[in-house]
Amino acid sequence: MAVTQGADLERLRSLHGIKWQRDEGDVLAAWVADMDFLPPPPAIEAVRGIAERGDFGYSRAALSQLPEAFASWQERHHGWRPELDKLRMFADVLQAIDLSLWFHTEPGDGIVLFTPVYPPFIRAAEHGGRRLIDCPLDRASGWRLDPDRLEACIDDRTKVILTCNPHNPTGRVFDRSELEAIAEVAERHDLLVLSDEIWADLLHPGSTHIPMALIGPEIAARTITISAASKTFSLAGLRTAIAHMGHVGVADAFDAMPSHAFGGLSTPGCEATLACWTQGESWLTEVRQHLTEQRNRLAVRLAQELPEVGFVLPEATYLNWLDCNPLRLDSDPTAYFTEHGVALSPGSDFGPLGAGWVRLNAATSSEILDQIIDRMVAAVVAARA
Ligand SMILES: Cc1ncc(COP(=O)(O)O)c(C=O)c1O
Repeated sequence: MAVTQGADLERLRSLHGIKWQRDEGDVLAAWVADMDFLPPPPAIEAVRGIAERGDFGYSRAALSQLPEAFASWQERHHGWRPELDKLRMFADVLQAIDLSLWFHTEPGDGIVLFTPVYPPFIRAAEHGGRRLIDCPLDRASGWRLDPDRLEACIDDRTKVILTCNPHNPTGRVFDRSELEAIAEVAERHDLLVLSDEIWADLLHPGSTHIPMALIGPEIAARTITISAASKTFSLAGLRTAIAHMGHVGVADAFDAMPSHAFGGLSTPGCEATLACWTQGESWLTEVRQHLTEQRNRLAVRLAQELPEVGFVLPEATYLNWLDCNPLRLDSDPTAYFTEHGVALSPGSDFGPLGAGWVRLNAATSSEILDQIIDRMVAAVVAARA
C-alpha cells in the first residue's frame, strides 16, 4: 500500500479538518501543517479499535506507557534518553510552552525568538505584557543562527529563549555549533530554554537532529524539550504532547498546580501516539523518502518556472519558505494565489521579516503538488499580462 494513500482530491475534499474545509471552491490547500496522507495503519487501527469496542470510558493504559515509548523512540532515533521522571504529558505542545512562559516570566521580561517563526510563538512571547526579543536568522547563510546577534539582543530582563528545532518555517536543522551558541548564551545569562522539537523526525537525508538536552548537563538542566507525534504521523487533531522538564523550577511550578488544572488527555490520542512510537518506523521511512522527493520536485520546478522566487532547500519538515517579493504581487501574495486556486500560509504571520513570503506545505501527492505549482505559475503569468 503506497504511503501517500489518501492524498486524492475526492477524499481530501470530504474531510472535516480545517485544511481542506476553510476555503470554498476549487482551492488546493497547501497551508496549515497537516499532511494529506492517511496516518500510519497502527494509529488508524488503534482508534478504530476504540470506536468498534465502544471503548470510550476512562483509560490509563496507553497514557502510562507513553513516557517509556517516547524515551525509547528518542533513544533509537536521536541518541537521547529522556529521564522518565522528568516527562509530563500535555494536550498540546503550545500548552506546555504557554504555561512554561507564564510560570517563568513576569510582565516586562524578554523572550528571544529566532525569526521568522511559527506564529503562535509570537503570540506567546507577547502575551500578558511579556516582551518579544527578535533575533532574526541569517538569510544570506541559508537561515543560520548568528551567535553575535543572539548575544547582542540579550538585556537584563531577558528570561527565555524559545526555539523550534527543526525550525518552522525555514526547515533549518540547527547544527552542534549553533546549539552550543544557544547553550553558551543561556548559561551565561541564566536563561530558560524552551526547545520545541516537534519536527525532529521529519529530516531530509544528510541532516541530523541533535536534541538540545544532549548538548551538555548544564544546558539540559535549564531546558524544557517539548514534542508530540502529531507532525510526524499526521495526528494533529488527537491532541497529545509530551514535555521533558529539565528545569527544576518550572517542573516544580507545574507540579504545584491542582492535578486537574490542565485537563486529562484523550484515550484516542494516547493510543494512536503509542501505536506510532512503537510501530510507526516503517511508515515514517517511506513518508520521509516521499517528502524529500516532493521537496526536490518543488525546487527543480521553481528553478525552471519561477526562478525569481527565493528558496533555500529545507533540511527538515515538509514546509517550504518562499520569497515571493521579486514577483511584485502584493505584500501578502497569498490572497492573490488563493484567487488562483492555491491556499498558502502568509509569510507576514511569521513576523515582519515574512512580508511578501509564503509557506508552502508539500505533504501531499506528487500530482497535487504539480497542480499547486501549475496554478502558482499561471497566477504569475496572469499578473504579468
Ligand atoms: C513548531 C511547532 N510547534 C507546535 C506545533 C503545534 O503542535 P500541536 O498542535 O501538535 O501541539 C506546530 C504545528 O505546526 C509547530 O510547527
